[in-house]
Amino acid sequence: MLTFAFLRVFRAPAVNVVILAAGQGKRMHSDVPKVLHRLAGRTLLAHVLATARSLAPRRIVVVYGHGGEQVRSAIGDDDLRWVRQEPQLGTGHALQHALPELDRSAPTLVLYGDVPLTRRTTLASLRDAAGDGVALLTVELDDPTGYGRIVRRGEQVVRIVEQKDASAGERAIREVNTGLMVLPTGRLAGWLARLGNENAQSEYYLTDVVAAAVADGVPVRAVQPPAAWETLGVNSKAQLAALERIYQRGIAEQLLEAGVTLADPARIDVRGTLACGRDVAIDVNCVFEGAVELGDRVNIGASCVLRDVRIAAGTRVEPFCHIDDAEIGRNCRIGPYARIRPATRLAEDVHIGNFVEVKASEIGAGSKANHLAYVGDSSVGRNVNVGAGTITCNYDGANKHRTVIEDDVFIGSDTQLVAPVRVGRGATLGAGTTLVNDAPEGQLTMSRAKQMSVPGWKRPVKRK
Ligand code: UD1
Ligand code: CA
Repeated sequence: MLTFAFLRVFRAPAVNVVILAAGQGKRMHSDVPKVLHRLAGRTLLAHVLATARSLAPRRIVVVYGHGGEQVRSAIGDDDLRWVRQEPQLGTGHALQHALPELDRSAPTLVLYGDVPLTRRTTLASLRDAAGDGVALLTVELDDPTGYGRIVRRGEQVVRIVEQKDASAGERAIREVNTGLMVLPTGRLAGWLARLGNENAQSEYYLTDVVAAAVADGVPVRAVQPPAAWETLGVNSKAQLAALERIYQRGIAEQLLEAGVTLADPARIDVRGTLACGRDVAIDVNCVFEGAVELGDRVNIGASCVLRDVRIAAGTRVEPFCHIDDAEIGRNCRIGPYARIRPATRLAEDVHIGNFVEVKASEIGAGSKANHLAYVGDSSVGRNVNVGAGTITCNYDGANKHRTVIEDDVFIGSDTQLVAPVRVGRGATLGAGTTLVNDAPEGQLTMSRAKQMSVPGWKRPVKRK
C-alpha cells in the first residue's frame, strides 16, 4: 500500500502549481478573506491545496493580495511559496509575480483559490493533455454570462475573449474558460512580458497568453471535466452554500455505495472523514466533524453531532446527542440528549441516558448513568449504577479534582461527590448524600438530615 502510493508520487509527471488567491471577494460581504471561508469544515484554499498536493508538484506558489497576511498565517504550511501581488492588476499580472518561483523545466498548472472541488483526475488529465503546449479546462454553459469565451477557428482554439471585451457574436459562444489551465513555463516569461492592459477592465489578462501561444505555433488544447461543478467558483455565500450541498451529496453517495444506510442522503453533513463498518445506519440531520469512525452495526439517531469520535460495534446513539473527542466501546447505549465531552472513554455495554454529561472520564463495562447526571474528571469502574441527579463536584472554583468510583458501586439519586473523593468497591451511597470523605468498600454511606413529622400541624389559610 505504502509502496504503491510512493510509486505513484514518484512517477507523477513534474508540474508546478500556482494558486491565484489575491482577489478581494467583495460579494462575500465578510471580513474573512474569501479563500478562508469553509466548505465541509475546511477552508476553500485547503481544499485546493489538498488537490494540488495530490499531484506531487515541484512547487506550490500561492499568490495572495492585500490583507492576505491573514490567509498566510491561517494556512502557514511550509511546503508553500507565498507571493504577494499588490496592487492586483489582473490574472496575468498575478502570474508574473509567481514566475520567479517556478521550476522552468516543468509545466505550470494554474488553479484558483476559490474553486475548491476540482478532482485530482481532472487536473491530471489537463496536465497530460498539455504535453509541451497549453491546455485549458473549459465547460459549455447554458448561461455563459460573465465568463471568458473560448474562440475557435474550426476546431482550433485561437484565443479567449473576456465577457466585457466580447462582440455580440462572441458572447453567443457557450464554451467558457474555467480559468484552470496548464502552461509551458519556459515560454511563459515571454508571453507574460508581452501582455497589455488595453481592454475593458484595464487588466493584464492571463487569458491573452492563449493568442500568444497560437501566434508562436504552440498547440492549445481544451479539456472538459466529467462534471461542470468541478469548475465552479465561490463568489458569494449562495455559491458557497450550493457547493457545500454538491460536496455533501458526493460524500453521501460514497457512503451509500459502501453500504451505509442513510435515512436521507440530502440530510447528512460530513466535515472531515467518516469511516463506517458494515450495516451502519445514520438517521437524518447528523453532523460529523474531524475524524469519526463507526464500527459494524452502529446506529446513529437523528440530529446528533459527532466530532473526533470512535464508536465500536453494536453501539446505539439515540437522537440529539453531542459527542466530542471520545472513544465509545461496543454495545453501548447513548442518549437521547446525552453530551459526551473530550477525553471520555466508555468501555462496552455502558448506558449514558438523557441529560447526562460526561467529561474527561473513563467508565467501565456495564456501568449506567441513565438520567440527569454530571460525571466529570472521574474514573468509574464496572457495573456501577449512577442514580438520577448525581453530580461529581469536580471544580472547587480554582482547581479540578478527580473522583474515583470503584466496581459494583450503587449511587443513590441526587448525590453530590465532592472531589477529590473515592467510593470503595461495592459501596452504596444513600440518596441525597453529599459525599465529602471517601466511602468505604461494601458499606452503605449516607449523609441525610433526619426525617421528621409534626403531628397536628395546620397548613396556613388565606386571611379574609
Ligand atoms: C477569470 C478569467 C475568465 C474566466 C473566469 C472563470 C481572466 C482575465 N479571466 O475571470 O476568462 O472565465 O476567471 O472564473 O483571467 N486573481 C488574482 N489577482 C488578480 C486578479 C485575480 O490573484 O489580480 C485571482 C482571484 O483571486 C481569483 C482568480 O484570480 O481566484 C480569478 O479572478 P477573477 O477576478 O474571479 O476573474 P474573472 O474576472 O472572473
Ligand atoms: Ca471569478
